[in-house]
Amino acid sequence: MPSHQFTYTELASDKELDSRYFHLLSEAKKITNNAYAPYSNFKVGCAVLLQNGVIVHGVNVENASYPVGICAERSALSAAVSTYPSEKIVAIAISYLSPNGDNNTPAFPCGMCRQFILECEFKNLQPIPLILGAEKGKVYIIDTAQHLLPFGFGPNDLK
Ligand code: THU
Repeated sequence: MPSHQFTYTELASDKELDSRYFHLLSEAKKITNNAYAPYSNFKVGCAVLLQNGVIVHGVNVENASYPVGICAERSALSAAVSTYPSEKIVAIAISYLSPNGDNNTPAFPCGMCRQFILECEFKNLQPIPLILGAEKGKVYIIDTAQHLLPFGFGPNDLK
């Protein structure tokens, strides 16, 4: 029977990251404070590292009409594509701040964001590693968006 599996990296803390990823995750953590999340109070920050060294930030921006709100990942990636349409994405880091949560366990991107990141990866022509971390505690590194959305729908399906 066919099966699908993937491996990922689990680190005890961000101190085990290399300096480039450590900095990127720090940027994601910092930017969570800019989230506009008056309804959920769940503040998410995303930092996108581009090939030219620029880091583009994004946060979740909620709306009184709940479905209108946007997640931090799509916010950051849209900003990156808007400002640097031809620049490759090297990696993205995601963090969050939750007043009621433990803030120790990384949160994974929602399904819609997984689809969005996958499209960015197709555009990117190279995998986009995801660094997932909370305020404290362990950190996950996922090597490619494809691992978070196996059998994902993509441009090839439209041919
Ligand atoms: N959220 C994100 O920003 N990214 C995700 O991947 C998961 C959820 C936001 C959406 C909403 O503003 C809040 O977190 C609670 O769901």
